[in-house]
Amino acid sequence: MAETRDATALLREDHRKVEDLFKEFEKASGDGRKETIARQICLELSVHAAIEEEIFYPACEGKVDEDLLKESYVEHDAAKLLIAEIEAGKGESDEYFDSKVKVLSEEIEHHVEEEEKPKTGLFAQAREADLDMKALGEQLAARKEELTASFKASGVPEPELTTMDEVQV
Ligand SMILES: [Fe+2]
Repeated sequence: MAETRDATALLREDHRKVEDLFKEFEKASGDGRKETIARQICLELSVHAAIEEEIFYPACEGKVDEDLLKESYVEHDAAKLLIAEIEAGKGESDEYFDSKVKVLSEEIEHHVEEEEKPKTGLFAQAREADLDMKALGEQLAARKEELTASFKASGVPEPELTTMDEVQV
């Protein structure tokens, strides 16, 4: 049984976890250690983006600033592209590997700020609205458990972009 936490507490915990992983990545070296951590980051972030998009953002719809919510979807899509690249790439033998992970960490830093900013952030706005944070927390936790197990078993799937048409470059 997933432990009950309210929605924003659970999502904040996800943020702290990936921040720690990014720090570990920066310090790591040798024996494919960076690659292992990068894969873990990709998994955590893919689950996080999915549960936000499937459960939390739709619940916020009509109750928070619409532009902010739309930007969140676009930011997720931008991150998903880098995640897919890191997942499918050549790992540490890619001369841009560290840079890709670094840019992903900067995107996530921005994402975290937009959500956690006091008073004006998405979480603060959601708290102001009459959302049932406990019930949402339960849904998020259950879906998180399910997706984590599935991504661990069969890998992180190709990203599904919510706001962008797939462009061929
Ligand atoms: Fe988030």
